Amino acid sequence: DKKQSLAGKKVIVSAAGTREPIDPVRYISNRSSGKMGYAIAEEAAQRGADVVLVSGITNLPAPENVKVIKVESARDMQSNIEQYFPDSDITIMAAAVSDYRVKEVAEQKIKKSDEVMTIELVKNPDILKGLGEKKTDKQFLVGFAAETQNVLEYAQGKLQRKNLDMIVANDVSQAQAGFNVDTNIAKIITRDGQIKQAPLMKKTELAQLIFDIIEEKMNIKA
Ligand code: PMT
Repeated sequence: DKKQSLAGKKVIVSAAGTREPIDPVRYISNRSSGKMGYAIAEEAAQRGADVVLVSGITNLPAPENVKVIKVESARDMQSNIEQYFPDSDITIMAAAVSDYRVKEVAEQKIKKSDEVMTIELVKNPDILKGLGEKKTDKQFLVGFAAETQNVLEYAQGKLQRKNLDMIVANDVSQAQAGFNVDTNIAKIITRDGQIKQAPLMKKTELAQLIFDIIEEKMNIKA
């Protein structure tokens, strides 16, 4: 049994990919399995936190002692997270949120026609950026960055732009890191400029490291 270092803390975690409908039978999504976010939610619950997991599309079972809210689109995810955010202490966005959605979702199944077809997309809200604009000094906000190049530079840019306390940057071009595997390789960057290189490890182990650093930065003493 773990130390109850997060007892009394309210934690929001997002996980898995969103799904943006095209018509009643088709959608746009991504390769996120939910493993990273579910591991984080489970670790928080084991440390005694009160955890809400806002989950995109996955078949993973609900972690023990975690309230799971299943959502589909980015906008569903946003409204559910925003409902819990004002009251939360720590929020971690591990979900792979679709940056765009289909402009006009067809009411009926689209029929096959021309050789080339075009679907118009419009930008989705950036959930994390919105939270960064609302957060108070007492709230700790964590983002992820999935990058295939310039990992550190892009992640530092996101940390600044989205007003985060921490960002977990994974180089998803590496086979054992990122989407749909049990392991990850990450750089954890905090607002004070500290960079912790996390070598290849299980996502469950990375979840522990993430909370060890959060507890240190929030001055939580177990
Ligand atoms: O689910 P797994 O298979 O275990 O894979 C884990 C993972 C690769 C999905 C995870 O480790 C990860 O990197 N998640 C973030 C993926 C992502 O969308 O990264 P991004 O660099 O595009 O977005 C940056 C941050 O902004 C993320 O925290 C994201 O949740 C958030 N975001 C992005 C777009 C958007 N419209 N709203 C957001 O809140």
